[in-house]
Amino acid sequence: MDNKGKAVLSYGDGKTLEMPVYGGTIGPDVIDIRALYGKTGMFTYDPGFLSTASCASKITYIDGDAGVLLYRGYPIEQLATHCDFLEVCYLLLNGELPNAEQKKSFDWTVARHTMVHEQLARLFQGFRRDSHPMAVMVGVVGALSAFYHDSLDIANPSHREISAFRLIAKLPTIVAMAYKYSIGQPFMYPKNNLDYSSNFMRMMFGVPAEEYEVNPVLVRALDRILILHADHEQNASTSTVRLAGSSGANPFACIASGIACLWGPAHGGANEAALQMLLDLQKEGGVEKVSEFVKKVKDKNSGVKLMGFGHRVYKNYDPRAKLMQETCREVLDELGLHNDPLFKLAMALEKVALEDEYFVSRKLYPNVDFYSGIVQRALGIPVSMFTCIFSLARTVGWIAQWNEMISDPEQKIGRPRQLYNGAVKRDVPPMATRG
Ligand code: CMC
Repeated sequence: MDNKGKAVLSYGDGKTLEMPVYGGTIGPDVIDIRALYGKTGMFTYDPGFLSTASCASKITYIDGDAGVLLYRGYPIEQLATHCDFLEVCYLLLNGELPNAEQKKSFDWTVARHTMVHEQLARLFQGFRRDSHPMAVMVGVVGALSAFYHDSLDIANPSHREISAFRLIAKLPTIVAMAYKYSIGQPFMYPKNNLDYSSNFMRMMFGVPAEEYEVNPVLVRALDRILILHADHEQNASTSTVRLAGSSGANPFACIASGIACLWGPAHGGANEAALQMLLDLQKEGGVEKVSEFVKKVKDKNSGVKLMGFGHRVYKNYDPRAKLMQETCREVLDELGLHNDPLFKLAMALEKVALEDEYFVSRKLYPNVDFYSGIVQRALGIPVSMFTCIFSLARTVGWIAQWNEMISDPEQKIGRPRQLYNGAVKRDVPPMATRG
């Protein structure tokens, strides 16, 4: 951290407090307020962490105004074009891209951990078949700590490493099992001569009675979805994982807490909502109805939002959305669906919105979810599984961030304070006198 001078706070009766200002390598400077409470007796108030850097991190950088996303300094566009998902996993975990030998060894180790304990497979039988797959995911991933307790010493770097491999390798198996369980098909064991994404597609869509044929275009599309969702700095689920981990909780429990947070519709559930919006609009008349729909979106009384548009951090085109649009075109072409009405509708909607003053003045651009639902639907992934795929992709980001936190000497248990505005101290009245 660069020392960038001091910020001075005036408070009370002419008192002042000087606080250090630090700069990172890029991005806004921060004011170090750690001494604030001790020196002034005051807290800061920042619900939603709009102005709070909760940690220092070297993993992911977003410039929301410029529409830039970097993993370990590399632009997402280059990673999505030149690397596969496991290369990106290696990068996020280790800070550098692997050379050929490192990549081979990393891929081999992941492949050796793809199976789950046979008794864990039996755990699924305890869930109702109509459970939401994310409910199953939260339970089963949390249960991993009951099966792999030989690697739960978080102070031991080799335990952390083996847990990381187990999570990255087993998540596709668990996601596919959650899907197969929901449709009543037999679980497919992983096949380790396939690459990571092909293996996942086979476990999702293969059946024991037939050979599964891997389609490289579809596999590449899935791999790209995983890359684009692998990390996104201190978002809600990542902050949840860090907070859970700050108490010393084991990595499987921490990742389960991240999955639980991701399940929320304001976080991982938005691609489902964007796809549903397009399907509804299609039913109501499609491209013909775009202008009317946009009018409704602009009317604050309608309660209608353009799902897949806008972002808390990006005030420019989300770089992931551009890549997802490109992938969408490739997948639809491969499947002979170049006239897919939903894709046409999405493009028409995007065009109208990008030219409209309402969206321009508020800097509302398509986000990653605008096209990812169409791609996943074309791959045959049912809507109920969208957030599971997201959690599979984000697991590596969560682990990298968790590991960074554990290794950070400045790490403390996460314990925010509050502005209490409830009742002041009072006595418990006898029951007979209570209103
Ligand atoms: N449709 C219509 N109006 C919108 C939209 C939208 N999608 N998004 C924001 N606005 C308006 C909002 O009403 C407000 O207008 P005004 O200034 O007149 O009150 C203005 O734009 C600023 O919006 P905000 O709610 O203050 O922005 P925010 O940063 O708090 O919210 C958001 C960001 C993502 C929650 C919001 O844009 C939204 O709800 N978008 C639709 C849902 C969606 O696509 N979510 C996925 C996000 S990407 C997932 C990821 O990165 O993991």
